[in-house]
Amino acid sequence: AAVSFGSAAQGAFPERQVSLVVPFAAGGPTDVVARMIAIPMGKHLGQTVVVENAVGAGGTIAATKVARAQPNGYTIFLHHMGMSTAPALYKKLQFDPLKDFEYIGQVVDVPMTLLARKDFPANTFQELQAHLKREGNKVSLANAGLGAVSHLCGLLFMSAMGVELTTVPFSGTGPAMNALLGSQVDLLCDQTTQTVPLIKDQRVKVYGVTVPKRLDVLPNVPTLDEQGLKGFEVKVWHGMYAPKGTPQPVIEKLNAALRVAMQDPEVKKRLTDLSSDIVPMDKITPAGLRTHLEAEIAKWGPVIRKAGVYAD
Ligand code: MLT
Repeated sequence: AAVSFGSAAQGAFPERQVSLVVPFAAGGPTDVVARMIAIPMGKHLGQTVVVENAVGAGGTIAATKVARAQPNGYTIFLHHMGMSTAPALYKKLQFDPLKDFEYIGQVVDVPMTLLARKDFPANTFQELQAHLKREGNKVSLANAGLGAVSHLCGLLFMSAMGVELTTVPFSGTGPAMNALLGSQVDLLCDQTTQTVPLIKDQRVKVYGVTVPKRLDVLPNVPTLDEQGLKGFEVKVWHGMYAPKGTPQPVIEKLNAALRVAMQDPEVKKRLTDLSSDIVPMDKITPAGLRTHLEAEIAKWGPVIRKAGVYAD
């Protein structure tokens, strides 16, 4: 009887709303993707999927919270490649990305753009280069904390340019972008899921994209690579997780909902307009995410340890 009760309970999942935890502030890139897919996922599941922003420590506060949540499917998590950089960045990480989670699937790959406040003096990448060489740490570079991709992009950029800027952390690039729009900070490297409309409306200056090929939606914006930062590449992958021990039938339902959401015509159009690539269906699987995460931890660990950047 206990066994049939158990499977009946799982068969009924979800009986109430599902919380989708986002590790950065509302209004930013991760939040944009989460809110976009929460609607069709909820429709498929027959329950509302509510986005919950749990900010702090470059996404690691939220990951810890999800790792410790009840493994019942009512708490799920959308995070980007910070899941793979955190183990090298944080000496005292409270969670293990490879032990404390179930994997629902990969989601989307998002390029980044290097931006300045509209009234920043440098108008071209060449002028930016000269300005940074001259002004150095008088120039501020916003990010979303250690573990954020804005932070990672900034590190790679400073290293490629051979400059040290003054970094200013926020709880997400949503608030960092507000500071850029308000001219309180100078530079920001951020994902196209937030930046495309602002670039098109010329509310920010843009110097380049972080992928080797120009973006269809921003054909006039050169790549950083073509302007001299040879091999500069950051493309931000995302995954959806649940706490370890979430029953497999529940993971299967969540995966089915994610797959439906990623094929939703409205979601597809919005993501394409934001220059983001929905990953192939064979990666929107638990195994697809797990395999990718393992490879990314192996890739970034040595790079970060070599850079010597970490939190105690
Ligand atoms: C966000 O959603 O605020 C960004 O993904 C933060 C980041 O730069 O990693």
